[in-house]
Amino acid sequence: MVFIVILRLIVALMILESVIGQVLFPGKIVTKSSDILSSYDYVIVGGGTSGLVVANRLSEDLQTTVLIIEAGGFDEQEDFITIPILSTANVPILGSGAKGTKYDWNMTGVPQAELQNRSIPTPAGKIIGGGTVLNGMVYNRGSKEDYNRWEELGNPGWNFDALLPYFKRAETFTPPSAEVAEWDIEYVPEYHGEHGRVQSSFPRFVWPSSRAYINSMRELNVPILKDSMGGDDAGAFWFLLSLDPKNETRSTSQNFYTPSRPNLHLLANNQVSRVMFQSGSLNVAAIGVEFSTGKGDKMNQVSAVKEVILAAGALHTPQILQLSGIGDTNHLSYLGIETVVDLPGVGANYQDHPLLVTVQSVDISINTGNFSNATWNAEMRSLYDEKREGPYTTAAGNFFAFLPLSLFTNSTSTFISQASAQSPAQYLPPNTSSSIISGYAAQHAILTRDLSSQSLANQEFIFGDTVIIPSLQTPFSRGTVLINSTSPFDFPVINPRYLSNPLDVAVLVAGFKYARTIRATSALQEIGVQETYPGMTVQTDEQIEDFIRDGLNTENHHGCTAAMLPRHLGGVVDSELRVYGVQGLRVIDASIMPMLPAAHLQATVYGIAEKVSATHPPRF
Ligand SMILES: Cc1cc2nc3c(=O)[nH]c(=O)nc-3n(C[C@H](O)[C@H](O)[C@H](O)COP(=O)(O)OP(=O)(O)OC[C@H]3O[C@@H](n4cnc5c(N)ncnc54)[C@H](O)[C@@H]3O)c2cc1C
Ligand SMILES: *[C@@H]1O[C@H](CO)[C@@H](O)[C@H](O)[C@H]1NC(C)=O
Ligand SMILES: *[C@@H]1O[C@H](CO)[C@@H](O)[C@H](O)[C@H]1NC(C)=O
Ligand SMILES: *[C@@H]1O[C@H](CO)[C@@H](O)[C@H](O)[C@H]1NC(C)=O
Ligand SMILES: *[C@@H]1O[C@H](CO)[C@@H](O)[C@H](O)[C@H]1NC(C)=O
Ligand SMILES: *[C@@H]1O[C@H](CO)[C@@H](O)[C@H](O)[C@H]1NC(C)=O
Ligand SMILES: *[C@@H]1O[C@H](CO)[C@@H](O)[C@H](O)[C@H]1NC(C)=O
Ligand SMILES: *[C@@H]1O[C@H](CO)[C@@H](O)[C@H](O)[C@H]1NC(C)=O
Ligand SMILES: *[C@@H]1O[C@H](CO)[C@@H](O)[C@H](O)[C@H]1NC(C)=O
Repeated sequence: MVFIVILRLIVALMILESVIGQVLFPGKIVTKSSDILSSYDYVIVGGGTSGLVVANRLSEDLQTTVLIIEAGGFDEQEDFITIPILSTANVPILGSGAKGTKYDWNMTGVPQAELQNRSIPTPAGKIIGGGTVLNGMVYNRGSKEDYNRWEELGNPGWNFDALLPYFKRAETFTPPSAEVAEWDIEYVPEYHGEHGRVQSSFPRFVWPSSRAYINSMRELNVPILKDSMGGDDAGAFWFLLSLDPKNETRSTSQNFYTPSRPNLHLLANNQVSRVMFQSGSLNVAAIGVEFSTGKGDKMNQVSAVKEVILAAGALHTPQILQLSGIGDTNHLSYLGIETVVDLPGVGANYQDHPLLVTVQSVDISINTGNFSNATWNAEMRSLYDEKREGPYTTAAGNFFAFLPLSLFTNSTSTFISQASAQSPAQYLPPNTSSSIISGYAAQHAILTRDLSSQSLANQEFIFGDTVIIPSLQTPFSRGTVLINSTSPFDFPVINPRYLSNPLDVAVLVAGFKYARTIRATSALQEIGVQETYPGMTVQTDEQIEDFIRDGLNTENHHGCTAAMLPRHLGGVVDSELRVYGVQGLRVIDASIMPMLPAAHLQATVYGIAEKVSATHPPRF
């Protein structure tokens, strides 16, 4: 009897071994390409936000072998990565003088016709963990309508209610700590996850000016929300950060990587140049990828038995697809690339959230944030180092607003008439193919309708002691990410086409005026707020517009360049995120959003990656 049990066990182990591979290999970070296997079930391109989440889920099944190839390496837990207040010091925000680090691809968009020909940096993480290692740590979700639009555009199962379980699955939420008890920050437990690998929490410090902002919102009849994470974010609220409450440090998608898994390999510092295909009589199938350590270095190949999964982010995924022959056939043939699938949507439909910094002075008594006072700065740094308290635990603010158009301007009906009068193709790039125009027409109709929505935000208003920053959340403008070289080591040409649709300028003018309305509330007047930039010499709509063109910057929410849409609407992936016309190729990153939600992107990216790992037969 015992003998039979042991025999069964041995047979089971043998089966397991043969399924896992020819040999049981240890899970590891592979530094040399010669150390990887020749073939895996899944090859994931990009070990950033979405890539690490999906790798985690796929490799939970020990019989499934997974390789992640990431262009960057690990960070060294530098202060500018881990400490919240320094979280944007590593990002080249225009005008701040900051430069990108070795963890940033350091790409820049082409000169923008509507921004006095300025080029805007487009930072993006080149590091294991991707954007979550560089970002501003704001952790929020859009409204129900933001996600229901995706379903409305022809993607069954992509709505807020269907996504909520996956938003929660990625997250471990921690309620506000005792240090901020006096602020009565509320939350709804059902909107949050308890077992996910990204930590969400409130910092252990609230900027005193938050009190004035809360009161200013009350004065203006803006709803103060108990918790914005349940699909209603139209109002003002306390926002979460991707912040580990144990030590008040940044929480990243690196947490989704489990080095000890025997069936998971991570090859760092290697860049994928293209997907390889096998053409059968009836179809084309992705069978692996080509990669190398850099320009001129040896090209290597690895096979994917089941799928190649693109998770390179919204700026690189379209580049890889185009280099692989998937894109607009006119564009590809111009570059001498043989077309594998003619998909004009690749690299089209680029969207971002442009923002506008306006600056103010405030009574010295309330302005606790004087980092140029070396004494104060040193005191606050010690407070953080010793007790994990104080302003170093925060990003720029604690409390902000996401507002529907009608909450901040009386011109909604004018904007709707202007939008209705537009022909959808009018402001798209010349020679845009007809499927993309059709897809944009569908988006344009939704955008126009939702200008009057009471629940979907048109603009975000970020509040700090010395800034109010309106940011456009539902842009009408569309940009492009297109290669202009067959070398994978040349950057793709990024053309955000900010403000190419004049409605975007018009609503930003309204947002700018509302920032002044907020400053004029008695709550902000009590703390002596006075606009210093651009200052009160800027008055007419024309002057405001000029200021916007001079000053517009970005939240770096690159997205939508391989959109999940029906193919006749310019889609690149179907609602299971499979690339049209190819077997065994998926895209899972921020590229797949058909339209950006009115929210910072990371929580949504995590949710998409959890959802695609768990649903949609065939489950990977
Ligand atoms: C500066 C900045 C600030 C932001 N602030 C916020 C914020 O405060 N809150 C918020 O919610 N969101 C913010 N975001 C957005 C958010 O972080 C991103 O939307 C999200 O991380 C994108 O996830 P992803 O999986 O699509 O791509 P990424 O996380 O960027 O991952 C892509 C990965 O693929 C790798 N890669 C690319 N090309 C190749 C290749 N050819 N071969 C191999 N690997 C490759 C990259 O190196 C990268 O690691 C910010 C983003 C940036 C850049
Ligand atoms: C980005 O630029 C900075 C200098 O501005 C440089 O130090 C860094 O190495 C660059 N990053 C990459 C990936 O080359
Ligand atoms: C922007 O560049 C274009 C093309 O070079 C030029 O025609 C135009 O005058 C420039 N605009 C400004 C504001 O400099
Ligand atoms: C913070 O704590 C987490 C565990 O919760 C740990 O993984 C991480 O390395 C710590 N970070 C720093 C910078 O100490
Ligand atoms: C900030 O500190 C610097 C250096 O001590 C000082 O010169 C400056 O006046 C301070 N600014 C404010 C607004 O307190
Ligand atoms: C700088 O900070 C110290 C410590 O908080 C404070 O005593 C001092 O008045 C500040 N100096 C200025 C110029 O604001
Ligand atoms: C809209 O108009 C009303 C009446 O004139 C005014 O009280 C209100 O402040 C205006 N609202 C905005 C957002 O401008
Ligand atoms: C548009 O297409 C026409 C015909 O294919 C071509 O001649 C023209 O150069 C294109 N224009 C642009 C701006 O690409
Ligand atoms: C296109 O590529 C060439 C060389 O590869 C480069 O010099 C040029 O600046 C690129 N064009 C744009 C718009 O980036």
